[in-house]
Amino acid sequence: MKQTPQELAQKSLENGSPTDWFEALYAQSNTSGDGIPWAKLEPNPCLVHWLDQNRVAGSNQTALVVGCGLGDDGVELAQRGFDVTAFDVSESAIEICRQRFPVSGVKFQQADLLYPPDEWLGHFDFVFESLTVQSLPPDYQETAMHRIGHFVKPGGQLLVFTWLRSRKYPLDGPPWLPLQSALEAYEAAGLTQQHLFKVQHSPNVWPVVAVFKH
Ligand SMILES: C[S@@+](CC[C@H](N)C(=O)[O-])C[C@H]1O[C@@H](n2cnc3c(N)ncnc32)[C@H](O)[C@@H]1O
Repeated sequence: MKQTPQELAQKSLENGSPTDWFEALYAQSNTSGDGIPWAKLEPNPCLVHWLDQNRVAGSNQTALVVGCGLGDDGVELAQRGFDVTAFDVSESAIEICRQRFPVSGVKFQQADLLYPPDEWLGHFDFVFESLTVQSLPPDYQETAMHRIGHFVKPGGQLLVFTWLRSRKYPLDGPPWLPLQSALEAYEAAGLTQQHLFKVQHSPNVWPVVAVFKH
């Protein structure tokens, strides 16, 4: 019988791994994303909206998708002309991406955000992070945000889609929603916050799109 994301996460965390449960979860899934709670099989609407609004064209530019899941955001960026690398800690997720998008041109790659390849440092014009940092336990989040910030090349941009929480909201993940102040970790990595849009207004948890520039 398939195990739930909660069961897999609990076992992984008890074994001292913040990420093993993602591979276990994707290994039970398929190109329809069965059993993956966040799988929408379409690009993030906030990413699409932001690219449209800002008339972003990616020709001759590099883009990196962090924790790419089933790959739709990477393909969206490739269709807009970016040279895209999209990575996930789960080899099975990457295999599903390759099956879903065999000719997209996206370089789908297994990699761990906490231990990224050196050649990614300062390499990307555009970096997209959606829901990956909040899927890591709080002790890992600052490091994860530093890594993401350092992927952006001078003049480049980082777009973040995340949920935030008020101090009243319990920290009982996954996901472990950050406080707004935690986003300062991107600034500590050398970026400057340009915008913070609340996608939804609610008292204790709310999704945001944050834009940072190197
Ligand atoms: C909540 S899902 C979000 C997926 C996708 N970004 C989205 O917005 O739908 C978090 C993703 O990050 C990946 N992930 C978690 N920790 C990671 C790490 N340390 N390095 C790379 N990917 C990671 C997971 O495998 C999963 O696909």
